[in-house]
Amino acid sequence: MTVLGIETSCDETAAAVVRDAREVLSNVVYTQIPLHSPYGGVVPEIASRAHVEKIGQVARAALDAAGGQVDAVAVTYGPGLAPALIVGVNFAKGLALSLGVSLVGVNHIEAHLHSPFLFDSPADATFAAPDPRKLCHALGLVVSGGNTLLVDMPEYGRYETIGETLDDAAGEAFDKAAKLLGLGYPGGLKIDRIAAAWRKANPGAALVPFPKGRPREGVAALSGLPAELCVSFSGLKTSLLRYVQGHPEVLDAAAPVRGWGGYEVSDAVAHVVASYQEAIAVAIAERVRAALRRRRYAAFVLGGGVSLNSRIRETLAEECRAAGVPILTALPKYTGDNGAMIAGLACLRRRVDGEAAMRMDAEPSLEVGDGNGKEAANG
Ligand code: KG4
Repeated sequence: MTVLGIETSCDETAAAVVRDAREVLSNVVYTQIPLHSPYGGVVPEIASRAHVEKIGQVARAALDAAGGQVDAVAVTYGPGLAPALIVGVNFAKGLALSLGVSLVGVNHIEAHLHSPFLFDSPADATFAAPDPRKLCHALGLVVSGGNTLLVDMPEYGRYETIGETLDDAAGEAFDKAAKLLGLGYPGGLKIDRIAAAWRKANPGAALVPFPKGRPREGVAALSGLPAELCVSFSGLKTSLLRYVQGHPEVLDAAAPVRGWGGYEVSDAVAHVVASYQEAIAVAIAERVRAALRRRRYAAFVLGGGVSLNSRIRETLAEECRAAGVPILTALPKYTGDNGAMIAGLACLRRRVDGEAAMRMDAEPSLEVGDGNGKEAANG
């Protein structure tokens, strides 16, 4: 089965064609980052307009590169920004109608957990993830610009959220720190590179002791989830602000700079950045350790743009090694938002046609597990 996947939940207009859930035949991503960076974050109205402008050519390019024939059109119908989701859902409906094929609605977060199973060529020697249909009870973690959550997957296609962030997603925590430190938007990749260079040059050096984001048991925002599986990054952000206010040298425009990881920043900024990243990496690793202790998992599945972070990958690989659980990570190009993860997961999901397809609607607050294997004829 060959599926065209459409993704417009945030600031990437993306389309891809995937065969049999895993083999990516084409993958086209138009990123809107230059449109949003002057504002320091994603502006929904701008995102929606840019999706309207680009979706046609992005989908056409993905279809053409894969030979033009598909059995279904899949689309992210939630969660995400309403004005952005609506563009993709309506475009997908029209395209499915005109091609005379079925429509499949896909949950964006569940699709991130499919990304480690995608490959470009079956001969890809670096590719180790098994067929998802053969996956036994797995633990999933999605860390992205909009989401940070731990997911229990008793079998492939069934999901239950067991932990999440009480406030900011990990990507937001990176992006907000980058903004405060004058590193621009988005900041995750820059922080990763600067921090890696600083750590390499200063092995074992003391880091700023930022809080590791552990919420208190019983806090109302936990909504019944165990505190040991949840994170909170708002205290970390405040702590960074206080540190910067108390150490004027960090934002001193006259301080000498040098190339840390390819970016011209002062030693003080590189030190703070490495410390801040470590706090996020430790917070996430501690929650994963707690989850891995709660039951015997057959695999740990990692997805989302922040899963590319080198320190987070390192700490999570250590946790999985210690627990004896294989870690499945996506190829770098499939960590951020893309259409391939949507098309891939759709191959394992229910297709809808006719009136049912036309009733499909965007669901900005869609939760993980809402479809639980039966997804996604929400019409
Ligand atoms: O999955 P994604 O495209 O999600 C959303 O749009 O929600 O991820 C984007 C996020 C941004 O917050 C970006 O700063 C972060 O992923 N990011 C990183 C890295 N690369 C991207 N964060 C930390 N380290 C990275 N290497």
